[in-house]
Amino acid sequence: MRIPKLLQATLVIAGVYVVFRLIFDVLLDHLIPASLLTMYMFFVVAGVFMVFTFTEEGAAELVAPIKALVEDPSKRLIRNIVFVLVPMAAGYGAYSQALPGLEAPVELRSIHPAPPSTAMIFGKRVDLLSLENPYRKLESGDPDQFAELVAAGGAVYIKNCQYCHGDKLDGQGPYAQGLNPLPLNFQDIGTIAQLQESYLFWRISTGGPGLPDEATPWNSSMPVWQNFLTEDEIWKVILYLYDYTGHRPRSWEAH
Ligand code: HEC
Repeated sequence: MRIPKLLQATLVIAGVYVVFRLIFDVLLDHLIPASLLTMYMFFVVAGVFMVFTFTEEGAAELVAPIKALVEDPSKRLIRNIVFVLVPMAAGYGAYSQALPGLEAPVELRSIHPAPPSTAMIFGKRVDLLSLENPYRKLESGDPDQFAELVAAGGAVYIKNCQYCHGDKLDGQGPYAQGLNPLPLNFQDIGTIAQLQESYLFWRISTGGPGLPDEATPWNSSMPVWQNFLTEDEIWKVILYLYDYTGHRPRSWEAH
């Protein structure tokens, strides 16, 4: 049986595509960008049609089934089916391309934006450059009282913070997976170990809404804790963050 030319051309193109895919995906393990495959296939399709339409008869034979489909009165049913299916397939193709993906667009976001020099916290204008944790001096001055304060901070943390930042302070709380940006991992050397206590006080008190523009576009889910905690509780929870992780807050004095 002779294979019709149109089918031959389609088979050649499909065969080349399968071979390319094998080379790209299996042999080269996706090393080559997919756009290159599209480009190769464009040349293959163009080449195949050039070969198949090299002679007048060849060209006529190639388009004969298409002509028949459109013109032959006996092919009316199949023509109607094709004329419905093709636009539907094209429509679906366009629709699926236009569907928004679930992946976040790549946008740079500053994790530690520069803090303002002063901020309104608990209804007062606070100078963040000179602000210090009022309890820090007890660390060496009165270790017993300091330990109590840390424990009180731990209670604040477990009640309020672990849902997002995790009970091990590693950013793996039960809510964490659903959030973008992710709650920060305080164990990581890149978070509180780099920061001053005044910075934490500002961030915890004013939360996501207190962030300056360069920390957008993603709206941080970090709550505005000055609405729910006292000033005292925030300073204590900061003691706990450093105590649990073993990090030292950054300070102006040389160590
Ligand atoms: C609803 C989830 C959620 C809860 C609850 C939550 N946080 Fe956050 N927190 C975040 C997210 C998300 C970020 C990261 C985005 C950002 O910086 O705002 C963050 C960031 C922070 C930062 C900034 C750290 C840095 O390196 O810049 C601190 C400090 C912090 N949280 C402390 C706390 C404390 C203390 C509590 C409890 C009183 C708490 N968070 C409760 C979601 C949460």
